[in-house]
Amino acid sequence: MPRKLPNTLYLSLVTVDPDSAVPLYRQIYQGLRDAIIAGRLTAETKLPSTRDLATIWGVSRNTLRNAFDQLIAEGYLEAIVGRGTFVAEARMRQPALQAVDNGERIRPISNIGHYLEPFGRNVRHARSRGNAFAVGIPDKQTFPHEIWNRIVNRCQRRQQSTTYSREFKGIPALREAIASYLISARGVRCSAEQIDIVPGAVSGMLVTTLALLNPGDQAWLENPSYINIGGLINYRGAEVVPVPVDCQGLDVQAGIDRAPNARLAYVTPSHQYPLGVTMSLARRQQLLGWAADNHAWIIEDDYDSEFRYDGPPITALQGLDTDQRVIYVGTFSKVMFPSLRLGYVVLPPDLVDVYTGVKLPMTLHAPTLLQAAVAEFMLEGHFVRHIRAMRKHYQACRDALITAVARHLAGAITLGAHDCGMHVVGYLAAEFDESTVVNAANKLNIAITPLSNDYLAPPKKAGIIIGLANVRPDEIDGYIAQLAAAIL
Ligand SMILES: Cc1ncc(COP(=O)(O)O)c(C=O)c1O
Repeated sequence: MPRKLPNTLYLSLVTVDPDSAVPLYRQIYQGLRDAIIAGRLTAETKLPSTRDLATIWGVSRNTLRNAFDQLIAEGYLEAIVGRGTFVAEARMRQPALQAVDNGERIRPISNIGHYLEPFGRNVRHARSRGNAFAVGIPDKQTFPHEIWNRIVNRCQRRQQSTTYSREFKGIPALREAIASYLISARGVRCSAEQIDIVPGAVSGMLVTTLALLNPGDQAWLENPSYINIGGLINYRGAEVVPVPVDCQGLDVQAGIDRAPNARLAYVTPSHQYPLGVTMSLARRQQLLGWAADNHAWIIEDDYDSEFRYDGPPITALQGLDTDQRVIYVGTFSKVMFPSLRLGYVVLPPDLVDVYTGVKLPMTLHAPTLLQAAVAEFMLEGHFVRHIRAMRKHYQACRDALITAVARHLAGAITLGAHDCGMHVVGYLAAEFDESTVVNAANKLNIAITPLSNDYLAPPKKAGIIIGLANVRPDEIDGYIAQLAAAIL
């Protein structure tokens, strides 16, 4: 059976540096060859089309064909007419479990280590792209730094203990503050006992998937989706089942058709990441019904729903759940700032001990000083005030973006759903190439990202994800005018 890897993985598998003296086709040839030799790409893996790979790596299809021709000539790849290009059998290392260093010492690493190593390499090569319109990063200028610093200093002075906290689930003051916020602002039904504080929502979701999935289980993922979630499912050796998203959110029937017995569904119902749509009530009920009938779990990732501009925030899916199937996950990364590394998980009561048991050896507990500071920030009312101010700020950015795109890029870019959240998708007209637009934007210090990177499977839509942060509303017209001049 041919294997297929998520297209997004190829982004980190080969690092293409346009400024390098090594020709682009040679960089791609070497990157793919190394991946095959190291067993990261195994025999029978079907490569994405040259068009998709050209988009992912920001090169021309000709460059890619040159690299492919070389790899085919050397026997690493095999082109089968009418079927595509595959990793050839003869070059696969069996087993793909070991790395050999230059001194010929065997350095065994796990399959998952092999699989995820390219992500690590990518981090090493990560370069700053500038900040305007950064996706998923909150605006730093509007944060009340003085108030926050005062609170942190006060908590630091007060903190007596330097040993491990016994409050592994998080300090009670913060869990209470989060519970009352979620009940009133998000329609979540919970008590502080169900809340676990984690160093970031993603680590909470990792604990959740380790607690709930067995190797070989299937998990629905919205397609497109937040890229890190596929990695979490893969950690567990579980199978990612991409489920399409339309204007009503996750297409539940398509999920049922593809994998009716999946153990888990990951969704962003309030504000789909990245497309920005809201899951309709009918779909919410259908999803909850499927989960209840099939003993499946749902992870609700509610990462930025506080910022809704054309009405009050949509309440959480968790609040509709009568069968305790939803694990609700929230983060302070968007409403405060991401380097804080604090998030939380709201668990069904019967999962609390299972989850805590899995979490302990991984993280013990989140930093208590920051937990105490966030609790005070919430209790003194700064949290809600800050959200209100940010909502106003992002709304002004969104309005300016709509006006600027209509003025400078009409016909080239069509904005997607934009009634909520910290980013908007711009769909590209057929004649525009994603990587050309993204590269042109990055040169202008506009940190947009390609939409197709977030797809786990075709069909993909070409577009860009435009963050609403780190740009003032009155600067937006200028940036968009510059982008238009560069690409039209
Ligand atoms: C959809 C989604 N979920 C979760 C997160 C990350 O949350 P955290 O920073 O708390 O790990 C992000 C961050 O960009 C996100 O976009």
